[in-house]
Amino acid sequence: MRARAPLGVVVVGYGYWGPNIVRNVIERPELELIALCERDQTQAQRFRSRHPGIETWPDFDELLADARVDAVCIATPPRTHYELARKALEAGKHVLVEKPLATTVAHAEALVDLAQRKELVLMPGHTFLYSPPVNKIHALIESGELGEVYFVTSSRMNLGIYQADGVVRDLAPHDLSILLYWLDRRVASVSAAGCTVFNPEVPETAFLTLRFEDGPSANVQVSWLAPRKVRQMIVVGSRKMVQYDDTIPDGAVRIYDRGLDLEIGAPSNYGEHRLTYRSGDIVAPRIDAAEPLSLELGDFANSILTGARPRSHAELGLEVVRVLEAAQVSLSGAGEPVVLARGGEIVARSGSFAPDGGTA
Ligand SMILES: NC(=O)c1ccc[n+]([C@@H]2O[C@H](COP(=O)([O-])OP(=O)(O)OC[C@H]3O[C@@H](n4cnc5c(N)ncnc54)[C@H](O)[C@@H]3O)[C@@H](O)[C@H]2O)c1
Repeated sequence: MRARAPLGVVVVGYGYWGPNIVRNVIERPELELIALCERDQTQAQRFRSRHPGIETWPDFDELLADARVDAVCIATPPRTHYELARKALEAGKHVLVEKPLATTVAHAEALVDLAQRKELVLMPGHTFLYSPPVNKIHALIESGELGEVYFVTSSRMNLGIYQADGVVRDLAPHDLSILLYWLDRRVASVSAAGCTVFNPEVPETAFLTLRFEDGPSANVQVSWLAPRKVRQMIVVGSRKMVQYDDTIPDGAVRIYDRGLDLEIGAPSNYGEHRLTYRSGDIVAPRIDAAEPLSLELGDFANSILTGARPRSHAELGLEVVRVLEAAQVSLSGAGEPVVLARGGEIVARSGSFAPDGGTA
């Protein structure tokens, strides 16, 4: 039997991101915050002073036995995601787990399988899939306005907080989830090079090159060591190009009617073909303001209540983890390309890349 609104929710973890989830759960009419689960008493006290009257529980296992709890939102560090999500699903709770879904492909696959068997919603928290500018660009790609997408570049850098899980697991899930959503095809190969200044075990900068099935490629730079916050993506298509700068509040998306065309048969000094440059208008479309996390939680509630697949679905979360794992393998192999087979498993760490996803 399907649960009814309002759905009883427990948020787990009240560090940096947890308070944002708590605030949005409280504001969403389909959800009711039953309690916070936080094992650090200083953080729990911070929550109590902001939300007097709402319970705090230090023990995760205890909340699973409570029949008022329909769903848990997990906002703890990545290395804890698998155990917490597994226990919650086994106890019959729907799960929203922060990105990345898990730290290994084996764990992510086990969670996807468990959620399917239990007929429960398992949703990774890929918040950018609910960002209005990201969705504007998704619509531009889907409608064909950009033409064939040739490549995407992405830079996500700032003077960031060092975390034991490393910059690739911390920041790259955002770029990877956006790229998988926009391009709607699997990643065929990944190569990654890192730069480690302070701790050899924790690279604070990484450069990823991704080749997607059937053509487009992407380059992703992530770093916690940069002079200012950079959140920029550029999509280059055969008809138009787009710049997305998430640090510009009212003009995050700019559409450039620019490009190069090849005139076949036109006389030129360089052979039979001539390149002509197009330089048309630059348009900054109006984009409605909305808080992505609120939309994400609304989608989570809707999936539980109606059975619809959330936009940030478990298989997309698994694909992100596959690419992250392949990137880690490439990082430890001095940047050699890692080829991902159709089933997601790594089939080769070196050798030239073939477009069908195999090795040439
Ligand atoms: N979607 C986004 O845009 C976004 C942004 C930032 C962080 N995140 C994600 O949110 C998650 C948390 O990141 P953070 O920066 O808030 O981490 P954090 O370390 O600041 O906070 C984690 C909190 O979880 C608590 N905790 C850990 N294990 C626990 C357990 N077993 N039971 C109860 N409490 C426990 C800790 O005491 C801590 O207070 C990560 O997965 C991160 O990737 C997502």
